Amino acid sequence: MQFGSLKLHGNILLAPMADVTNLPFRLLCKKYGAALVYTEMVDADGLIYHSRKTISRIVSCQEERPLGIQLSGSSAEGLNLAARLVEEQHNPDLIDINFGCPARHIVKKGCGAAMMNNPQLMADIVGQVSDAVSVPVTAKLRVYDNVDRTLKVVRMLEDAGASAITVHARTQHQNYAHKADWDVIGAVREELSIPVIANGDIVDEVTAQTVFEQTHCDGIMIGRAAIGNPYIFRRIGHYLETGEFLRPQDVNEQLDDFFEYMELAGKYDMLDYAGVKLNAKWFTRGLEGGRLLRTKINAARDIDEVIGIMGGLIS
Ligand SMILES: Cc1cc2nc3c(=O)[nH]c(=O)nc-3n(C[C@H](O)[C@H](O)[C@H](O)COP(=O)(O)O)c2cc1C
Repeated sequence: MQFGSLKLHGNILLAPMADVTNLPFRLLCKKYGAALVYTEMVDADGLIYHSRKTISRIVSCQEERPLGIQLSGSSAEGLNLAARLVEEQHNPDLIDINFGCPARHIVKKGCGAAMMNNPQLMADIVGQVSDAVSVPVTAKLRVYDNVDRTLKVVRMLEDAGASAITVHARTQHQNYAHKADWDVIGAVREELSIPVIANGDIVDEVTAQTVFEQTHCDGIMIGRAAIGNPYIFRRIGHYLETGEFLRPQDVNEQLDDFFEYMELAGKYDMLDYAGVKLNAKWFTRGLEGGRLLRTKINAARDIDEVIGIMGGLIS
């Protein structure tokens, strides 16, 4: 699959997720076969005003490449400037623009899904950012209630210079209780000539294959199902290639992944108490006695205590 000048070796991508897709987690997903990983959304203004917190979201390394940096912002000028800064200082393989985040604090600033009320602005942003940087520029958006409107807007983005489009097949106002409408993704695939990435409710081997068959999309993007479960990329990749299911990871293998996450987080100076606790809970999802385990992890007073609890699970 090719996004502009960027050739990808595979078609299963890791979704950008705030507070989840940091460098250690992206490296694990890459190890298990994610063809492209993205940072969480990075605020354009934060970059322009050198916010330390914002910049910490783009810590990267060579082994995780190719890397997409996702930007969110509310104006073409701001995103244009932020994209140039990001390209100069962080050298990403592509820049993605977030047109889909429905979180209230993001929409209130005119960013994320708020942009979908102004398709001309979306197209201007994609056009200006594509002109300003040399790497491919892609866009990730949700769908409209009306399929024709969705098709009109994605066509505007392609015409403006987008190298690929990711469609999260829910509207801004549908939360995760609604099932993603993969048929819309199929319609987008028919409308455009650039690659179309399907996103929403791809959770295992079968849903992955169904989405490919139903939409003829070029690639799939996995979000929540990868949290605490980077191995999902290997499972899905293996199934799509061979038609065979790999056995699920056992407890020790899940714990190995958690400890590898910890090692990488230590290496890149990204160990923080809240993040470690969250990841400990995520990486033990589905284990027997999970509820008691989570209560223990919640009560842990420091990182060492979390490590002790996790180490005690190894058999
Ligand atoms: C915790 C969390 C954080 C997210 N943060 C972002 C983000 O920073 N940028 C973005 O484009 N989408 C974000 N999303 C949306 C996901 O990228 C994805 O579109 C959505 O979860 C649907 O895919 P899924 O059904 O595979 O989870 C986030 C989702 C979750 C659950």
